[in-house]
Order: sequence, then C-alpha cells, then structure tokens
Amino acid sequence: MILLSGAGSNCAAILAAQAQFKSFKVCAVLSDTVTAGGLEFARAARIPTYSLPGPTQHIRETALLHYIEQLKPDLIVLAGYMRILSSNITQHLTQNCLNIHPSLLPHYPGLKTHQRVLASNHQQHGCSVHFINESLDAGPLIAQASLPLQRPITATQLAQQVKALEHLLYPKIIHWCATQRIRLKAQTVYFDHQPVPATGLQFTLDTMIKKCSKSIDSFKSLI
Ligand code: GAR
Repeated sequence: MILLSGAGSNCAAILAAQAQFKSFKVCAVLSDTVTAGGLEFARAARIPTYSLPGPTQHIRETALLHYIEQLKPDLIVLAGYMRILSSNITQHLTQNCLNIHPSLLPHYPGLKTHQRVLASNHQQHGCSVHFINESLDAGPLIAQASLPLQRPITATQLAQQVKALEHLLYPKIIHWCATQRIRLKAQTVYFDHQPVPATGLQFTLDTMIKKCSKSIDSFKSLI
C-alpha cells in the first residue's frame, strides 16, 4: 500500500518496478489530497485508489486505519506523504512502514531539505529510506544513496537529481523487504541476517547506476 500527497514520481517508479521484480504487488494507493498526481499513475495501472479526506488528522487517520484493517497490506510505503502521522498510527505500523526522505539523515529532517543543504558547506546530498517510528524522519535507517553536490545548482535541479536517486533506491528496498532480505528486529535493521550500520546501507551514485541499470539513461540526463 502506498501513501502519497503530491506528484507521485516515486509511486510511478514503484509501480513500474512491480513488473521488473515480481516480488510485490501494490494493493492500493491512498492520498490525503484528491488532486495528487500520484493517484493518476495508480489509476493508469488499475490500482485501487482511496482518499483520506477530512479537515483533521483524527478523521484522516481513522480512515487510514480503516483501509489498513480492510486491505491488510504487508508493507505500507510512504512516498511523498507530507503529513506527520500521530503516535496512534505509528505505534501500529513501526514494523512494516517505510518512508523515503530527500536528505542524508540525520541531516535535514523535515521540509526544504535541498535549500538547506545548498546553504551549508556539505559536499554530499541524497536520500534515505527508513522504517518509521514515533519521531519525524528518525526511524531506523535502511539505506541511503548519495551524490556529490556540484555547485552551482538550484534547489529545483537538486530535487530532480535526488528524485532520480530515489526512483532507483526505493523500489529496490521494497523488493528486499518483500523478499525478506531486509527485516527489522528490536529497532535494528538486518540485511541478509546481518545487522545494518546505524547509517543504513550506503549507495553512491556510481553503485546505484551499476545496480539499477534500467533507469540509467533517464538518470544520466539529469546530471
Ligand atoms: C520525494 O522527494 C520524497 O523524498 C519527499 O517528497 C518527494 C515526493 O516526490 N518526501 C518527503 O519530503 C517526506 N518527508 P514524488 O511525489 O514525486 O514522489
């Protein structure tokens, strides 16, 4: 099950990867925003879509819990879901809910990550995939993919580069969760039964390109 709020490029990458990996099947795409572009990708792929309407977090999350109860997904994938989940929800989901975040956590949790890294003197940027917990963008890290920050670059260009990395990394991590290569036990992430370092599995632009040759041409056009 995918949750999103916006354009849905990660959702599109995950849907495309279903056919490549054949290890998972997206059962539904949910959004708090009825006009979210990501819902169109789901409809085009004939995946059921549901909205989480309502003016309050309580109403939205009651609907979310209802769909989780009904659909019983093995994995819940936050793909640009821009609402903070309450502890009522996160307590239910800590074992099986992933989030992707556009920075190398623990740097730059929250919003405007690209602007903030550009204002710093960091030489690297990227994205992180982690299990959620009750703190924002702070759950156990599964993996990070990084790229060198080649200034001058605008925040919009950087966001595009990071999204291209996300599109390679996130489907791979979902595949590894679906095939049980990644597991979470007592707040420690394991990959093939080995504990993963607290910073997550590390991928660079080069290793991502070697591992995920499929989307390389589109990626190279962005850098
Ligand atoms: C992605 O860059 C994702 O990492 C970010 O929103 C974007 C969604 O793009 N998520 C967050 O900032 C969550 N804290 P998309 O709608 O094109 O997939």
